[in-house]
Amino acid sequence: MSKFDLVIASGTVANSSETFQADIGVKNGKVSAIAKNLTDAELVIDASGKYVLPGGIEAHCHIEQESSSGLMTADDFYSATVSAAYGGNTCVIPFAAQHRGQSLAHVLESYHGRAKPKAVIDYSFHMIITDPTDDVLNYEMPRAISQGITSFKVYMTYDRLKVDDQQLLKILTVAKKHGALTMVHAENDAMNKWMIDKLIDSDHTAPKYHAPSHPRASEAEAINRTIALGTFLDTPVLIVHVSTEAGARLIAKARYRGQKVFGETCPQYMFLHAEQMDLPGMQGANLCCSPPLRDRASRDEIWRCLQNGTFQVYSSDHAPYRLDSTGKLHAGPNASFPKIANGLPGIEMRLPLLFSEGYLKGRISLNHFVALAAGNVSKIYGLDHCKGSITEGKDADIAIWDPTLSREVTADTMHDDMGFTPYEGMQITGWPTTVIQRGRVIIRNDTLHADRGAGNFIRRQPVDCTGMPGRLEPELDPNCNFGVDFNL
Ligand code: URP
Ligand code: ZN
Ligand code: ZN
Repeated sequence: MSKFDLVIASGTVANSSETFQADIGVKNGKVSAIAKNLTDAELVIDASGKYVLPGGIEAHCHIEQESSSGLMTADDFYSATVSAAYGGNTCVIPFAAQHRGQSLAHVLESYHGRAKPKAVIDYSFHMIITDPTDDVLNYEMPRAISQGITSFKVYMTYDRLKVDDQQLLKILTVAKKHGALTMVHAENDAMNKWMIDKLIDSDHTAPKYHAPSHPRASEAEAINRTIALGTFLDTPVLIVHVSTEAGARLIAKARYRGQKVFGETCPQYMFLHAEQMDLPGMQGANLCCSPPLRDRASRDEIWRCLQNGTFQVYSSDHAPYRLDSTGKLHAGPNASFPKIANGLPGIEMRLPLLFSEGYLKGRISLNHFVALAAGNVSKIYGLDHCKGSITEGKDADIAIWDPTLSREVTADTMHDDMGFTPYEGMQITGWPTTVIQRGRVIIRNDTLHADRGAGNFIRRQPVDCTGMPGRLEPELDPNCNFGVDFNL
């Protein structure tokens, strides 16, 4: 029997904080040796001239998810995870969405049933909470956390999804007690509604008006409130899909103060802008997402905040809806913009875009690329025990990148079920050419070698807030509040 199942030889290996030349030996699905001149393997992959990087972890994507109005995403767990794998990912964390009246146990069971037979790479779930009843708060959330679901998403907007501030505080309290992270879709519901009403009343109904209908100030106000609520309880919050400089600054300021605040942005806010929505007919609907695309200056600011570390997480927010009655146009072929399904595809392009335009163009280092691809996510979302770096003892989840391969992006070359990419026509250099999951080659020479259902559910650990001291609010401190212990 060979010493190794697989050796990846002669590549440049990089993690979030180091880059070195080494061979990687893999045994029983784990990285078992990192050294020079490893031999005695069943399979040797020559990685000379290539980068050997941890498999990406895509931490914000909507897969086989019903929207609150009953729409199903275009991708199921097979097409989405195949597409993710072609984009250099070996793990995804999509959402399991509670709709009002549903029990979390039922929702989770349903999403396990969707993912298990189809996912080709490993997966976990964040749970979306829309109905924080006493049962959900006291029993269901703690049970989900004990089952390895250590993050929850809440919405501050959308009638069928939103929680109010008191509900958010209750959710944060449970999350704090059990070591979970609360992800927040932060937009001010009233400001958005006010804008939407004004635009529709004045007959501005085309898709492009979606952009001004969710004003920048709406995002900033809601991020400010989220940070205030999270900081009040000294429990971690992660603001998802940040699209504005004002929002990013609030996150940076909170982090400077040691508060437990994380920020995420997405490729659409770095590579696209709102003017691109000014298209004939309903074509602009393809670019309706929330928060919306902003202007070119905002795009530059979001890049800067990614570079300076304000955002620790960079996710696709893959939310695939086709431009037809199954998706974007479910309310009719000429629906006004508030009735258009929101979301863009991007699970396959997330990492190639950042590698080409971020790393190869000198905007970020290779190690920063790895941190955004996998390393930061593994720590924040509790996967660091098994994923996120090429380390002896961790899963051999590896993507081998060819930094010289240049290709034009077209919808035809994507592996999702969308038939559309917002990045059509871009020339991208640097692609993952071999992808390995737990030691098995799942993509090589543009060919998929993974079976449906090959992915495993991964139980996640509590959020890691190392280096974020926070503080106990005086009113919650028995030393300052006449002795009341809130048992937080
Ligand atoms: O437009 C978007 N992003 N749709 C997906 C749902 C969400 O809020 O992330
Ligand atoms: Zn959202
Ligand atoms: Zn989303």
